[in-house]
Amino acid sequence: MKEWNPKSWRDFPIKQHPIYPDIAELQAVENELKSYPPLVFAGEARNLQERLKEASKGRAFLLQGGDCAESFSQFDAINIRDMFKVIIQMGAILTFAGSCPIVKVGRLAGQFAKPRSSDTEIIDGVELPSYRGDMINGMAFDVSSRKPDPQRLLRAYHQSAATLNLIRAFAQGGLADLNEVHRWNLSFVKNNDFGKKYEELADRITQTLGFMKACGINTQSTPILKETEFYTSHEALVLNYEEQLVRQDSLSGQWYDCSAHMLWIGERTRGLEQAHLEFLRGVKNPVGVKIGPKATKEDILGICEILNPHNEPGRLNLIVRMGADVIRENLPKLLRQINPEGREILWSCDPMHGNTIKASSGYKTRVFDSILSEVKSFFEIHQAEGSYAGGVHLEMTGQDVTECVGGSCAITEAGLACNYNTQCDPRLNATQALELAFLIADILKARNSA
Ligand code: PEP
Ligand code: CO
Repeated sequence: MKEWNPKSWRDFPIKQHPIYPDIAELQAVENELKSYPPLVFAGEARNLQERLKEASKGRAFLLQGGDCAESFSQFDAINIRDMFKVIIQMGAILTFAGSCPIVKVGRLAGQFAKPRSSDTEIIDGVELPSYRGDMINGMAFDVSSRKPDPQRLLRAYHQSAATLNLIRAFAQGGLADLNEVHRWNLSFVKNNDFGKKYEELADRITQTLGFMKACGINTQSTPILKETEFYTSHEALVLNYEEQLVRQDSLSGQWYDCSAHMLWIGERTRGLEQAHLEFLRGVKNPVGVKIGPKATKEDILGICEILNPHNEPGRLNLIVRMGADVIRENLPKLLRQINPEGREILWSCDPMHGNTIKASSGYKTRVFDSILSEVKSFFEIHQAEGSYAGGVHLEMTGQDVTECVGGSCAITEAGLACNYNTQCDPRLNATQALELAFLIADILKARNSA
């Protein structure tokens, strides 16, 4: 393999990349981005890899979640806070009811770009370039909005920095204190079945803390009780952005993509001889690759060879997104081929992207039962094949949206219109997210006591 450098991806064929009309403007933006401070540190990415290693061995569990796409227009503190709250609530449920350490990774502070199945969109006979996420172009259906605009890369950087700043404050500045566990429940969730179930769990945690306090274990003696580790991730799609945030770590001399702790590449850009894999192979962050229904043994072993040649545990996360029916057909066969090869892989389950359907009303949606069914199958299949289900990867929000049908809140197809607010794909709302967490906690508990 040729030597890697932050630009070496430019010599490879690339998919899903924007074509900017004004190259001089793009270069000026790239130079500016390169002069900006890193958003995360190499040492944090190394810590995350240690945590992911535990998840890959079945001793911890990865909870990765957030918006399908962040947006410039919905950028506000309440959205960030409520997303953070739901993720740490799910973390509390999985840790306490599932008796398992949880590695929390947000799909946020940089998740602004979308791969699309079609390059263009046609509405009423008018054809325009597809919307590719706020860091590339605008969602409004007109010529100027849909033109890729390099200035959006700078805005994405600044929004990521501000989001991460608030997340760090929440994680370390008191909101994540276990004594606050009741405060994490969102007001619109509190009185429904899963909000109440959460309140009961929070009561038990509070009781346990009281007992520990009486034994001398409190937030002064054990500061970890008032903080949480929270990591960031996004799809490394726009490589001319990612390249500018690559920094060489002064301690190890290694390259890190300092735009997030973890980066993944999608099902559409994971070709073995293409630019996205070339870029990711040279950065030392933990990396993920989406694995769809058509993935073969050769694809997966090729990905392992390129992204994890030294077979380090916690480095490579394969995110399976096959769909509730297809997973039962395809994953057992794949695991029977891959598991004997002894590759270090953290397997996680994205039960969202293989289960997207169009409702008769025209809304893109996902059925809660399909999501749950894919997760259950994922656990069962790994158990049967002798590997570990190491995590989940979810599209979710702390808002009371109506984007996925079903769940205890019984959203119907007709109800989707009430509060359908996503920038791209349908997300679990906070109630559905808690419901899923309780169901996964039961599965984890059974696994860990077996
Ligand atoms: C996504 O995670 O939003 C996405 C587009 O996923 P995939 O690449 O698996 O389709
Ligand atoms: Co999506």
